[in-house]
Amino acid sequence: MSNLTQTFPAAVRYLRISLTDRCNLSCLYCRAGESGSAAEVLTPERVERFAGVLKEFGLRTVRLTGGEPLLRPDAVEFVRRIARRGLEVALTTNGLLLEKYAAALKEAGLRRLNVSLDALDPEKYAEISGGGDLRKVLKGIDAALRAGFEELKLNAVAVKNFTEAEVDRLLEYAAVKGLHLRFVELMPVGRLPFFTEDRFLPLDRIKELIEKKYGRLEPLGRGGSGASEDHFLPSLGVKVGFIRGVSKPFCAGCAKLRLTADGRVRFCLRTDREFDVTPYLDSEEELRKIIPLLLEKKRLSNLLAERLEPTRFSESRTMISIGG
Ligand code: 5AD
Repeated sequence: MSNLTQTFPAAVRYLRISLTDRCNLSCLYCRAGESGSAAEVLTPERVERFAGVLKEFGLRTVRLTGGEPLLRPDAVEFVRRIARRGLEVALTTNGLLLEKYAAALKEAGLRRLNVSLDALDPEKYAEISGGGDLRKVLKGIDAALRAGFEELKLNAVAVKNFTEAEVDRLLEYAAVKGLHLRFVELMPVGRLPFFTEDRFLPLDRIKELIEKKYGRLEPLGRGGSGASEDHFLPSLGVKVGFIRGVSKPFCAGCAKLRLTADGRVRFCLRTDREFDVTPYLDSEEELRKIIPLLLEKKRLSNLLAERLEPTRFSESRTMISIGG
């Protein structure tokens, strides 16, 4: 039996918003080659309104994602508007455009930044990202370090026969730069040919590789939005997190909602359920009426998610339109 107080979060604390389903990369685990829609339903005004009203119901943190959120010329404006509502603003980027935007994002009130980086070998990086230029990402990370965010993290999706050989380089890079490195288990979201069983690399394996070479990882408890099992590696002085969405799902007490670039609220990565909020985004009053229904749907979704097979994920959309 699940623990009810854990299953039902007191409130939705965390909202992840996909600003666009366009991306300047084509990561093998994220998209099928969708080109992304040009019309953006989400405007800075609409998003500020939605986040502002959700705050009345307990929201604390908004994370902007994509596609690639920095492809929106108004990305900084989203940050500024959400921050001025007294919400903590975070952003996840592939880093390609970060050199240009890092300082402006910080100035607009962005507190936490995650950069997706799956490999430090330029050829392997290009292979997994569909042609990405690693040098640009590294320049972006350096610009973010200069801008001085409260928290700067690297996310590496773990892929079998790919990531094992990158672990040392990623760890040592994170240590030198003072970044928090997190490994993310590959989640088969959407029907992509890439998701075969032999690509899955349980993070226990990565943990083993790290401890064998660098010594014991000291557990620090759960971090981020609760998804990451954080550790400290004394020998390198680096923080390492494991996001085990498949081998150890963390659905109980999940207090996270997602808003897709086309204006649908998503309750969970495991189910296809969604709710179109576009008719309500232009009025605070309308939003106030609809949000209790969204919270109720979220509670039911948690109940359902806990009963699903750990390997079961949403099939109707790929990550590029959900936003990771
Ligand atoms: N499995 C795990 N993580 C994924 N991401 C995108 N698709 C997947 C997937 N199928 C991650 C990206 C990025 C974040 C937005 O989500 O690597 O760090």
